[in-house]
Amino acid sequence: AKVAILISGRGSNMVSLLEAARAPDYPAEIVLVASNRPDAPGLARAAAAGIATEAVDHRAFADRAAFERALDESLRRHGVEFLVLAGFMRVLTPWFVEAWAGRMLNIHPSLLPLFRGTHTHVQALAAGVRLHGCTVHFVVPELDAGPIVAQAAVPVLPEDDEDALSARVLVQEHRLYPAALALVASGRARLDGGRVVFAEGS
Ligand code: GRF
Repeated sequence: AKVAILISGRGSNMVSLLEAARAPDYPAEIVLVASNRPDAPGLARAAAAGIATEAVDHRAFADRAAFERALDESLRRHGVEFLVLAGFMRVLTPWFVEAWAGRMLNIHPSLLPLFRGTHTHVQALAAGVRLHGCTVHFVVPELDAGPIVAQAAVPVLPEDDEDALSARVLVQEHRLYPAALALVASGRARLDGGRVVFAEGS
C-alpha cells in the first residue's frame, strides 16, 4: 500500500517509519513525506533518505479549506492510499478527515482517552498517573478521539520531569507506529462502523 507521512517538525517518528518500510516484507511503501512547514527538519531528513517530499505551506492559502485542497491534490498526484500523521500540527477539517476516513492514522503521546491535546507529559505528571504511553488511532473529526489501533505503556518514575518522561514515551512511539501501520496497511486492522476490526491473531 502507498503511504504518505505528514509532518510539521523534527520527524523522528517519520524516520522510524521509513526504516521499518525498508524491510522487503513490510506491507507499506512510503511514497511521500509532506509538511505544512517548508522549514521542518524532517523534510530534509526524508529527502536525504531518497523519499519524495513536498512542502504545502499553510500560510500561502487564504483559509484551511484551500490549504487542504492543495494537500489533497498533492497526495492524489502521488497515488497515496494511506496517510500517517507524525507530529503534524494542523487541525484538519471534517471535509479532509471524511475524504481519508479509515485511511488516516495519528500517533498521540498519551494513553488515550487520557490527556488529549498538547503538553501530554505535563498533564500526566500533574495527574500523578504511574503509567503513561502512546496511542495510534484512526483520525476522526474530533481531536485525539479516534478508534484505537495500538497502544504502548511506560512507567512514570518518581524523579521524572517532562523531558525524561517524553523521551521514555518516544522510544515506544518509534516501535509502536511502524507496527500499527503494518496492521492497517495489510488490512489486518480496519475501521468498520466506527470501530476497529482486527484480523485473528493481530
Ligand atoms: C511525537 O511525540 C508525537 O507523538 C506527537 O508529536 C511528536 C512528534 O515528534 N504527536 P517527531 O516529529 O515524530 O519527532
